[in-house]
Amino acid sequence: MAVLRNRTTGEVISELTAVESAMKRVGVIYEVWGTDLLPADLSSRNLSDAEKQAVLAAFEPRLAKLKQERGYKTADVVTLYPDTPNLDVMLAKFDKKHLHTDDEVRFIVQGRGVFTLYPAGSKDVIDAELCPGDFITVPANYHHLFTLTGERRITAIRLFTDPAGWVANYV
Ligand SMILES: [Fe+2]
Repeated sequence: MAVLRNRTTGEVISELTAVESAMKRVGVIYEVWGTDLLPADLSSRNLSDAEKQAVLAAFEPRLAKLKQERGYKTADVVTLYPDTPNLDVMLAKFDKKHLHTDDEVRFIVQGRGVFTLYPAGSKDVIDAELCPGDFITVPANYHHLFTLTGERRITAIRLFTDPAGWVANYV
């Protein structure tokens, strides 16, 4: 389950209902889908294409519902590990404050990631550390950045309206 750290106030939130309401308050969609549906053996460092397909298949009903409700067209699985080629170059694209013209939709399968959120019209800066089972939607045009934790590994499902258009616009 996610942990929220407010850089401005020092407040740390880790209790589920408090995390849910804090995310709602700053305009970010957050849900706990859990990991029960995931295939049991996902221990390999980098998932094979077949394993990625199994992950997508496990969550297909939820993904289909989101596609229908929010107009997403495609879903994929991304894996980042310390030995991923050019990991630092890839991370450097997203560790500066930016926005996208599409929603940033992620379900965390393995590992951890931190979305730093800059809610519009607020002085708050919130680090939302996500763990396996967490689902987040950072809406289009929302200022944020993304980093990994010290273990530098994450596997996540992504949903896109237009993957070609999903680029970082620095702000
Ligand atoms: Fe982003």
